[in-house]
Amino acid sequence: MASSNVQAPKGTVDMLPATARVWEHLQRVAQKMFSLYGYEPVYTPIFEHTDVFVRGIGEATDIVGKEMYTFLDKGNPPRSLTLRPEGTASIVRAALEHGLTANGQGAKLYYAGPMFRYERPQAGRQRQFWQIGVEALGMAEASADAEVIALLVRFFEATGIPHDRMRLLINSMGDDVCRPDYRAKIAAYIHAHASVLCEECGRRAETNPLRAFDCKNPGCHSVMASAPLLRDELCDECATHYGAVKAYLDHLGIAYEEDPSLVRGLDYYTRTVFEVQASGLGAQNAIGGGGRYDRLMEQYGGAPTPGLGWAVGFERILLALKAAGIEVPVRPVAEVFVARAVPEVAGDAFLITDSLRRAGVAAEIDHQARSLKSQFKSADRLGARFVVVVGPDEIATGQVTVRDMTAGTESRVEIRDLDTTIIDRLRG
Ligand code: HAM
Repeated sequence: MASSNVQAPKGTVDMLPATARVWEHLQRVAQKMFSLYGYEPVYTPIFEHTDVFVRGIGEATDIVGKEMYTFLDKGNPPRSLTLRPEGTASIVRAALEHGLTANGQGAKLYYAGPMFRYERPQAGRQRQFWQIGVEALGMAEASADAEVIALLVRFFEATGIPHDRMRLLINSMGDDVCRPDYRAKIAAYIHAHASVLCEECGRRAETNPLRAFDCKNPGCHSVMASAPLLRDELCDECATHYGAVKAYLDHLGIAYEEDPSLVRGLDYYTRTVFEVQASGLGAQNAIGGGGRYDRLMEQYGGAPTPGLGWAVGFERILLALKAAGIEVPVRPVAEVFVARAVPEVAGDAFLITDSLRRAGVAAEIDHQARSLKSQFKSADRLGARFVVVVGPDEIATGQVTVRDMTAGTESRVEIRDLDTTIIDRLRG
């Protein structure tokens, strides 16, 4: 690594070409998949009024309490803005602002981009990380939950992560009818066990009792394992909805595990929540997660509008693929390298390269006047399948030498047929 006295901030990573190409590949996989399910792209600002996240994600969450990058803009008076820690709050704010769900119509939206959380960096946990997500607004039926979950599972399948290395966990968080009583019950349970729970969990009794289920402290974990479960206290409507979601998933043949302690870290959830965990990732093993948030639009002053969605973390998908030994197929930088034998034919070589590019072939040429041997090395490094050698002889006869780097064979091809020949050989 070259030494320098400037470095990227802690918890951020430069996505260099090898990784950035995989990020683009995964976005293409996602776009293809999302279009099959009727989702359209949406881009919202990377920062919002702080209040959008405070009201949406919840004041008592770790994200809002500890992890937001918040700053004042230069307005008069200055306004508090926050780099988005996640996408859902922004999407719902934008849908409301632009009436995307006016008159009860539905909207299916997807997004991809960086998110910002001031967390303790570790493998699979960064302060700037990259998410791909979907949000389905206006749909209350349990079939919508199953469709959204199916899309998550199918997306992960399409990335190449093997089935047996993923677990889909599901749970129901209840709603305004059944959750308040349950919250009170858990707060009382925490109080009753305060002497054996950590201080943070003690505080959670007041602010966000359900988060105690998520405490990483092993002592708290075992105490909370005996706490009453919301699953057993759901109101009739939530129980029916949850049952229907599971029935639809069964119908689609999507394997899941019920995890009654899955509470997720954002307060906007109602009813169905889910998470996919991958093996071989250590503590940060959630590669994606989401759920239903039927009250969020109202929290922003809109009409009651159900919604649900999920987001996946790019860095963790990469780790999951690596742990499974899966290579992501990315196109080589160059499909063809046009090598010139002597500087005098530079113009001809340039013209041949230009023609290949205009025909849709990724073609590269040397701009550093290097030896033929070095040019072959470059071709190899760029992953070029063919090297086209251009020399005075070739120009005189109108035929270039085409070397197939995979097969190790050579042939002569008429320059005027070169584009079509290369395309046939590449795509044939
Ligand atoms: P989340 O569970 O907070 O949900 O994040 C979704 C995914 O983003 C996680 O499963 C993980 O893969 C990745 N992720 C989260 N934090 C980090 C981090 N610090 N570093 C690397 N990766 C991370 C949400 O964000 C919700 N908006 C999902 C949703 C959409 N719910 C409904 N609609």
